[in-house]
Amino acid sequence: MTRLQGSTPLGGRKTQTALPPTLLPDLAYTPEVARATAHLYDRVARVIPPIEWPGFAPYIKAINELKRARNAVVLAHNYMTPEIFHCVADVVGDSLQLAREAAKTDADIIVQGGVHFMAETSKLLNPDKMVLIPDLRAGCSLAASITGADVRALREAYPGVPVVTYVNTSADVKAESDICCTSSNAVRVVESLGVKRVILIPDEYLAKWVANQTSVEIIAWKGHCEVHERFTGEELRAYREADPGVKIIAHPECDQDVLQEADFTGSTSGMIKWVKDNQPSKVLLVTECSMSDNVAVEAPKVEFVRPCNLCPHMKRITLPKILDSLVFLKEEVTIDPAIAERARASVERMINLNH
Ligand code: 13P
Ligand code: SF4
Repeated sequence: MTRLQGSTPLGGRKTQTALPPTLLPDLAYTPEVARATAHLYDRVARVIPPIEWPGFAPYIKAINELKRARNAVVLAHNYMTPEIFHCVADVVGDSLQLAREAAKTDADIIVQGGVHFMAETSKLLNPDKMVLIPDLRAGCSLAASITGADVRALREAYPGVPVVTYVNTSADVKAESDICCTSSNAVRVVESLGVKRVILIPDEYLAKWVANQTSVEIIAWKGHCEVHERFTGEELRAYREADPGVKIIAHPECDQDVLQEADFTGSTSGMIKWVKDNQPSKVLLVTECSMSDNVAVEAPKVEFVRPCNLCPHMKRITLPKILDSLVFLKEEVTIDPAIAERARASVERMINLNH
């Protein structure tokens, strides 16, 4: 990748092209690569064994150099693996934080370390920038559970009832909605509408969790997160029995029997903040596996129990695919302008509510 170092930043949407083969990065683990990435390895040494580092380091160095050359940023969700989250990401966070940062960036290219609906949200907020997703197949079971036509049918069934849509949905569904929400602001968004009844879609469990915290009547949809629905209250009670001191922290995409066992429930960033603020001696994060590794790097005194579940969609995003994205400028996320305009309004209403 040294051949790129002297190059002028490409800057500017129109000048971006795939790299010619002569400029393709060299991915050997050389002493120079080891030196250039040593400070990053120090960061993740608790969660990445030394034997794995030579496989990651050349990609990390190449990605970081190419980001600078292309004026690109990597936005990484809290579920990205530690070599992405801690070593190539420019912005990390939950869905709301990533959406907010996407709205602020002055980069020419956004590479989404996350799933397709997150990349679509970035594109909605940056219609003139190039938004890339390293694997187009990185979907989400919640986003797949509902279509724009389903929302129109709901509106017919409940005339006049506003529709609040979780960001884990396609642009098509957002376009049919009044306002979006994430797990970190759902109660606030629902109450901001000042009405007695709200349609909150598509996550049935998130809707139940919100309903328990507000007097607004909630009409839900039967969508589920395939990762969080696998946890059970019984499994958590067994952990608690084996170790009564363990703290259990859960994501609201889990069912009620799981949330009843939790000492705290919140968005992925809410969960991370809880661990950092409370420094429990032992904690169980009832969510996607990579989160525990990412927090372990920053909370060295906390022991993490890991009965986690993997999100197969998030795990499609890897360092080689991020590098490919930056080299070949793929896969570009596009949204039909007519849909984008209405979907953007739903996302912006949510973002503006938080200022
Ligand atoms: P957060 O907004 O809490 O990060 O949740 C996104 C997600 O997909 C959780 O499964
Ligand atoms: Fe979707 Fe669940 Fe994966 Fe989050 S963890 S992206 S909600 S399938």
